[in-house]
Amino acid sequence: MQVCRSVKDCRAAIAALRAKGQTIGMVPTMGFLHEGHMSLVETAFQNADAVVVSIFVNPSQFGEAADLDAYPRDEARDLEMLKAAGVAVVFMPDVDTMYPAGDETIVETTRMANMLHGLVRPGHFRGVTTVVARLFNIAQPDVAVFGEKDYQQLQVIKRMVADLHMPLTIIGAPTVREADGLAMSSRNVRLTPEDRAAALILSQSLAAAEKAASGATVADLHKVIAGTISSEPRATLTGLDIVQAETLNPIDGPLTGPTAIMISVAFGDILLIDQRVVTP
Ligand code: PAF
Repeated sequence: MQVCRSVKDCRAAIAALRAKGQTIGMVPTMGFLHEGHMSLVETAFQNADAVVVSIFVNPSQFGEAADLDAYPRDEARDLEMLKAAGVAVVFMPDVDTMYPAGDETIVETTRMANMLHGLVRPGHFRGVTTVVARLFNIAQPDVAVFGEKDYQQLQVIKRMVADLHMPLTIIGAPTVREADGLAMSSRNVRLTPEDRAAALILSQSLAAAEKAASGATVADLHKVIAGTISSEPRATLTGLDIVQAETLNPIDGPLTGPTAIMISVAFGDILLIDQRVVTP
């Protein structure tokens, strides 16, 4: 496994794989890897010969410097896990490499970035698309894999790739869950044991909404989710969006097609997200 820190080394390592006739699958990450990330790597292997993983804690997608500083990191463990998985190249640039002095180019999906989670995290999706576009330009993969858990992010990236005619395919991989149903996330380790137990309410509320989806209206699903979350006193529902699954457009009245339910729930200062696409 080659660990590259410069654009030049990363490109050379990928060129060597291409010279052997291999196709390239990419998994962009911010490190502190868990099983969720490793399932993205597995999906990349199902769709390409060689896999490149980037590890870069991207400052431009964090609103608060404190959140960026608190982001967990464990480079040695990440590299061990990626090596064991058979990853060919790990790209670990520093901030100056991704954002060279004097840089001024941003990439933004103007509508999708500024709705839903984008309203509570201004600039977040602009930061994501800017760094992902740069990573794609560096690695030039054939496919790239993103988790469905960050549902809006996945749709935003698909839109960017379509709009900019980027020559790669974006694959969404299903959310990996702990045995009890909690979606895996780097933030889970920051939960107190009590909040960790209470956090089950996210997947439970989505399961209840899915069960109720047939013949339901958007208002019905709102009630089911809000009611389930409010039954857990440690949880505060901070976001609930029920939108058309692909465009993220708001919908009203009875469900008519694939519908994404996206929730964010706070436990103290830790925000967890989960989502489910339901069909009526
Ligand atoms: O999902 C993430 O970990 C990040 O948003 C990503 C896609 C690696 C961009 O920094």
